[in-house]
Amino acid sequence: MDISGKVVLITGASQGIGAACAEVFRKRGARLSLAARTEARLREISRGEAVETAGDLTDGEVRRRVVERTLERFGRVDILINNAGVGLYAPATQAPLETVRRMFELNVFAALELAQLVAPGMKERSQGAIVMVSSIAGRMTLPWLSLYSASKAALDSVADALRIELKPHGVQVTTVAPGYVTTGFQGHALTGQPPAGLARYQRYAISPEQCAEAIARGVERNARTVMAPRSGWIAVAAARLFPRLVDRQLARINHNLERGA
Ligand SMILES: NC(=O)c1ccc[n+]([C@@H]2O[C@H](COP(=O)([O-])OP(=O)(O)OC[C@H]3O[C@@H](n4cnc5c(N)ncnc54)[C@H](OP(=O)(O)O)[C@@H]3O)[C@@H](O)[C@H]2O)c1
Repeated sequence: MDISGKVVLITGASQGIGAACAEVFRKRGARLSLAARTEARLREISRGEAVETAGDLTDGEVRRRVVERTLERFGRVDILINNAGVGLYAPATQAPLETVRRMFELNVFAALELAQLVAPGMKERSQGAIVMVSSIAGRMTLPWLSLYSASKAALDSVADALRIELKPHGVQVTTVAPGYVTTGFQGHALTGQPPAGLARYQRYAISPEQCAEAIARGVERNARTVMAPRSGWIAVAAARLFPRLVDRQLARINHNLERGA
C-alpha cells in the first residue's frame, strides 16, 4: 500500500516505537491521528497537524472516541497501527491477576476493539491496513516476561483471524514482532523489573526509528509478518523446530538471570 495521503491512526504514539512511527509515516506523506495517555507529549509529536486523542485505551469509551475524532477530521482510517502495549515482569505463578487482566485489556482487547471499529469502513472501501505491534515474545515465551508473552501470542492469533477474515475484502493485516528496542518499555512495566543481567542482550537492540521504518516498509509491501531485527527469525525457527531444546535453554538463562549470574 502506498502510504502517501493515507489516514494513519497510531496508538501509543506519545513515545517509543509509536512516536517514531508518527515521524516515519509523516515523512511518507500520511495524515496522522495519534493516541496515548500523555496529552503534552502527543501535542509535541503532532506539531499541530495531527488529531490528538489523550486517554487510557483500556477504556472502551476512549477507543471509540479515538476513532470518532479521526473520522470527524479525515472521514476515514486507512491504516491502523495498534502499537500501545505494556509489559509485566513477574512469574506466572505469582503475578496478580488484576494486573494481568489490565495488561491483556491493553495488549489484546484494545487492539481488537479498535480493529473492529475501523474494519467496516475499510471493507466498504475495499482497502485498508491493520498493523499489530506484537513481539518476538509472542512466538517464544520469554520466562522473565511470561504473561506478557501470553498476551502477545493472543494478539498474534487475533491478527491471523483478522487477516483471514479481511483478505477477501482487500484489507491487509501485518503482525510486527520486534526484539529488543531501545525505548522506555522496561521502565513502564505494570509490575516488576527485568532481571539485571538482561542488559547484556542490549547488544542485539535496534532503535525505535529502525523499528518504525521496518513497520512502514511492511505496510508498503503488505507483509504478513515483520520481524525487527530480521535475525529474530533464527530464534523463532529454533523455537518451532526444537521446542524442548529452546525451553531448556531459556530455563537455564532465566535461572542464571534470577541468580544475578
Ligand atoms: N521496546 C521493546 O523492546 C519492545 C519489544 C517488542 C515489542 N514491543 C511492543 O512495542 C509496542 C510499543 O512499545 P515501546 O517499546 O514503544 O514502549 P513505550 O516506550 O513504553 O511506549 C508505549 C506507548 O503506549 C502508550 N500507552 C501505554 N499504556 C497505555 C494506555 N493504557 N492507554 C493508552 N496508551 C498507552 C504509552 O503512552 P502514555 O504513557 O502516554 O499513555 C506509549 O506511547 C508495545 O506494544 C510493546 O509491547 C516493544
